[in-house]
Amino acid sequence: MVAIRQADESVKVFANVCLHRCAKLLEGTGNARRIVCPYHAWTYKADGQLAGAPHMEGSPGFGLDGQRLAEVRTTFWEGFIYVTLSEQTAPLEPQIEGLSEVIGRYRLADYEPVMLENEIWETNWKCLVENFMDAYHVFKVHRKTFDPVNESVQRTTMHEGGDRWAYHTVDAPSDDARALAHPENTWLQGDWRRTVTLAAVFPTHTMQIQPDMLWYLSIQPRGTDRVAVRWAVSIPREILADSDRGALVKQWSELLRAVNEEDKEILGRVGEGMRSTSACQGRLAYLERNLWEFGQYYCRRMTG
Ligand code: FES
Ligand SMILES: [Fe+2]
Repeated sequence: MVAIRQADESVKVFANVCLHRCAKLLEGTGNARRIVCPYHAWTYKADGQLAGAPHMEGSPGFGLDGQRLAEVRTTFWEGFIYVTLSEQTAPLEPQIEGLSEVIGRYRLADYEPVMLENEIWETNWKCLVENFMDAYHVFKVHRKTFDPVNESVQRTTMHEGGDRWAYHTVDAPSDDARALAHPENTWLQGDWRRTVTLAAVFPTHTMQIQPDMLWYLSIQPRGTDRVAVRWAVSIPREILADSDRGALVKQWSELLRAVNEEDKEILGRVGEGMRSTSACQGRLAYLERNLWEFGQYYCRRMTG
């Protein structure tokens, strides 16, 4: 699939498949006036309409009219684009209304994307969702990155989620100015000016939302032990306007890469243990409440 901004600023999502002989049209991200197929140069407008097909004049019965890329069903939520290939999928927004009430206050759609990475992780996708929402492991696994002064447990509050989502919040760390709202940010009030929210829209979207940064993962299983992970960072515009952009992006990318390496290593060990015949079902900590909520969601889906 490919998401394309239209002339009127809206976004449409299309199948990334040529109407001629199915070549994949686009790779990665970028800007272009026209989409040109790499195989025989059929050309499409941003609205998906076929605009040109070289040397087809000699092919009887062919015409450009009415030929357009297949449009995909799309929902926009808090700046994110959700897509589904199914007409049966229930609308997303009513299912995550409660989460919208929590995170709507950050105004994420106004954050500016600053980095995007695509990676393959050697883990089961469910372990990755659980790990992102696990408030318990931070003091141990991330003691050199997210929690250098060993206070994540005291600063974390677990909350009740919904059928399709879960979240917990963390007070901003006391060691520096991370996770604080910019003075020009007048919409976050009270404690929310220094509150980090970790949320998941089940099954495969996780996010860490801060007054000064958004970090999210789009998790796409590739079998039982491989996951395609798209992770990205966005920064509020008022913070970017007031910072050395390059230095700020470098700082976040170094920190989050280090965090990812810590998580990759521990997930490898979890995977090894889970494949063992001695794998067992342990007692979850209260800080793992979101894992339990994910498990409940998963059971509901698997048992219909
Ligand atoms: S497959 Fe795209 S132009 Fe032939
Ligand atoms: Fe982690």
